[in-house]
Amino acid sequence: MITMSFKQQIQPDCLPRHIAIIMDGNGRWAKRQGLARMFGHRQGVETVHTITEAAAELGIEYMTLYAFSLENWSRPKEEVDALMTLLVDTIVKETPTLMKNNVRLMTIGDLDLLPNATRAKFAACLEQTSSNTGLNLVLALSYSSRWELTQMARHLAQKVLQGQLTIEQISEQTISEHLTTAGIPDPDLLIRTSGELRISNFLLWQLAYAELYFTPCLWPDFTSEEFYHAIVDYQHRERRFGKTSEQIL
Ligand code: FPP
Repeated sequence: MITMSFKQQIQPDCLPRHIAIIMDGNGRWAKRQGLARMFGHRQGVETVHTITEAAAELGIEYMTLYAFSLENWSRPKEEVDALMTLLVDTIVKETPTLMKNNVRLMTIGDLDLLPNATRAKFAACLEQTSSNTGLNLVLALSYSSRWELTQMARHLAQKVLQGQLTIEQISEQTISEHLTTAGIPDPDLLIRTSGELRISNFLLWQLAYAELYFTPCLWPDFTSEEFYHAIVDYQHRERRFGKTSEQIL
């Protein structure tokens, strides 16, 4: 019997439009090798490179990576500083690859908390890749979903107070349009590595109908074949959006 690779099993006409990923397990990966946590994050960047190229090649429209949560600011200062440096250095170094692969970089999150120099470097990369028409690579940076929902509620309340919006006009669409993901379709598939079965304050509103895929694989060990496996698994699910099987036939 000939076994097909997961890549060969992907049906190109029903790809998820948007894949969100919680890249977990860098610290444990490093610990298992007897190394400091930062080695895990550095190896994690290699995985980001591999998976971004795989997603771009497949023709995925949006991929959102949870690179740094608002809660991550409370990690030891040395790890936070080193992660920020790694993130910026990677973005600067990888911009030519993003250009080569026609990838547009976007960010969501409370970027006001980033050091000025870091923010400026991200802004330059966002600008440089802004006309690219292939994969939209969304980095969730200094992001948490409850922060985003709180901002949205304040913003809408302000508009109501100023008479720009009535309470009756607030709909699911209005809410989506006031999130940092405005204009981005909701994720179809969420992948979380490292065996943790949580959503961890990530895209709580947007993930309402996403298919969830959990793998024990640690992020630095996650390969393109594992990524294709997640997509094949997604393509075997029946997405009913609250309807019956018969209704969606
Ligand atoms: C979670 O692993 C990972 C992070 C908090 C950071 C993820 C960042 C990268 C992989 C670098 C990304 C780079 C770019 C350019 C997007 P953990 O440290 O929580 O692992 P643990 O749960 O095993 O301790």
